[in-house]
Amino acid sequence: MYDFHPYFTNDGSVGLYNKEFNDIYHSADGALTEAFEKFVLPVNIDSLIHKDSIKVLDLCYGIGYNTKSFLNFIFEKYSERNFIKNFYHAKNNIETIHTNNILDNKNQIYNEQIYTNNISRDKENNFTSEHATCNKTIYTNNTLAKIYIKAVDYDKILTFLSPFIKTGVKGVKFQNLDFDYKPVDRILKNKENILHRKIKNEINFLIFDKIAQNTPEIFDNSDFLSIVNSEKYAEYFDKHIKGIFNFYRNSIYKYTPMDNKPAFLHNIYYRHISNCYKRRLKVYPLNDVDFELKNNDARQVIINDNNLYNLIFLDAFTPSKCPCLWSYEFFKELYKHLAPDGTLLTYSTSASIRAAMMEAGFFIGNIYNKRENKFTGTIASKDKSQIKYELSEYDLGLLKTTAGIFYRDKNLTAQNEAIIEARNQEVKSSTRLSSSKYKKYYKQEDLCSTT
Ligand SMILES: C[S@@+](CC[C@H](N)C(=O)[O-])C[C@H]1O[C@@H](n2cnc3c(N)ncnc32)[C@H](O)[C@@H]1O
Repeated sequence: MYDFHPYFTNDGSVGLYNKEFNDIYHSADGALTEAFEKFVLPVNIDSLIHKDSIKVLDLCYGIGYNTKSFLNFIFEKYSERNFIKNFYHAKNNIETIHTNNILDNKNQIYNEQIYTNNISRDKENNFTSEHATCNKTIYTNNTLAKIYIKAVDYDKILTFLSPFIKTGVKGVKFQNLDFDYKPVDRILKNKENILHRKIKNEINFLIFDKIAQNTPEIFDNSDFLSIVNSEKYAEYFDKHIKGIFNFYRNSIYKYTPMDNKPAFLHNIYYRHISNCYKRRLKVYPLNDVDFELKNNDARQVIINDNNLYNLIFLDAFTPSKCPCLWSYEFFKELYKHLAPDGTLLTYSTSASIRAAMMEAGFFIGNIYNKRENKFTGTIASKDKSQIKYELSEYDLGLLKTTAGIFYRDKNLTAQNEAIIEARNQEVKSSTRLSSSKYKKYYKQEDLCSTT
C-alpha cells in the first residue's frame, strides 16, 4: 500500500511527510507560500509574458505547488478582469492618454509600460500627428506567451493527486498527524505568519484534465483510487475536482470502450468543459497552456529532452538525501537545457550545489525573501544580468572549502548511496580547508576588521 502522510501547513495548504526519508516535502510554515516565494516571486514574469512562449521545467513536481503557483500568479495578474482594471487605473493616473489603442479584451495587455504609436487629439478633439507624451508606456496588440510546462516526478501517485489537493483552508486542524514527527507538529501549532493563499479551481482542473488526457491510467490506478476516494483523507481533497473526476470516470465506463479513453476525454474537453471553463475563467485561453507530465527519473527525462527552458524549478529532496539531482553532471545537462536568458531556481543554498552549478557554467546568486528579510535559495543563469543578489565574499570562499566539493554522477545513472559514498571519500582525502575551520577563521577576521 502506498504511504501517504498529509498534514495542513500554516497557510492552509497541504504538506506531505515522507516516511522513507523521515523528512517533509513541504515547509510547515506554508507549502504554497514557500512555492510562491521561492519559485515565482524571484522571476521577472513581466519580461517573459510577451515572448512567443514560456517554457517551464518543473523538476520534482510532487503535488505541483510550484507549477500551480506560477500559473495562478500569471492567471491573476494577466486576467482580462485585471487587465481592464489596470488599464482604467492607469488612465486615471495619467493626465490624458490619447491613443489608438483598442482594448479588445483579447489581444492586448496593459503592462507597467505603454509603447505606442499614439496619436494625440488637439483641443478641438481632432487627431494630431504628435505622439502622446506620457510617462508610462502601453504595449499594443500584445498577445500573451503560450505556456508550456513539463512536470517531472517519478512518483506517479503524487502527481495524480496533485490537482485534487486543497489550498486556502482556514482553521486547519493540526492534531491529526498520523506520524511521529514532533518538530513538524511544533511548527504547525505556531500560527504566526499565516499567509492565506488559494489556487484557482480552474488551474487544478486544467492540470487534472491534461493528466487525464495524457495519462489515462489515472482512472485505473488502484493506489491512487484508494487514496482519493478514502474518507480518511477526504478533508485534504477538493470536492469539486473529485466530482469532475468521477463524472469522467463514470462516463468513460458507461459509454466508451476502454482503449478509446484518450479520444473520449479529448472530445468531452473540447466540446463541453473547455468552453464552459474558458467563459468562467476569462483569462488566458486554456488551450494556450500545455502541461505534460513525465513520471520518470528526472535524469532520464532531461537526457531525452530537446527543449530550451525559460525557467527550471529544481525542488528535489536535500542534496545529502537525493544527490543524484544535484550532481555536477546533472547541472551540466540543465545548463544545456536553459535558454540564454533563462533562470534556474532552487531553495537550496548549499555550498556543494553552488560549486557544482558554477563548474557547470552558470552565474549564480541568492534568492532574496522580502518577507523574511533573508536569502532563501539560489538562482542560476547563463546571463549574468539575471542575477540581482550576488554571492558574498564569504559565500564564495565557502565554495573553496570541503563544503564546496560537489556530488558526481558520471553517467547520470548512479544510486544516491553510491554518490554520497564517493563524495565522502573525496572529502576525506581532500587537502582543502574544512568548512568549520573556514567559518572560524572568517569570523575571527571579520571581528578583527570591525574592531
Ligand atoms: C521536496 S519534494 C517536491 C515537492 C513538490 N515540488 C511539490 O510541490 O509538492 C521532492 C520530490 O522529488 C521526487 N523525486 C525524488 N527523486 C527523484 C528523481 N530521481 N526523479 C524524479 N523525481 C524525483 C519525489 O518523488 C518528490 O515528489
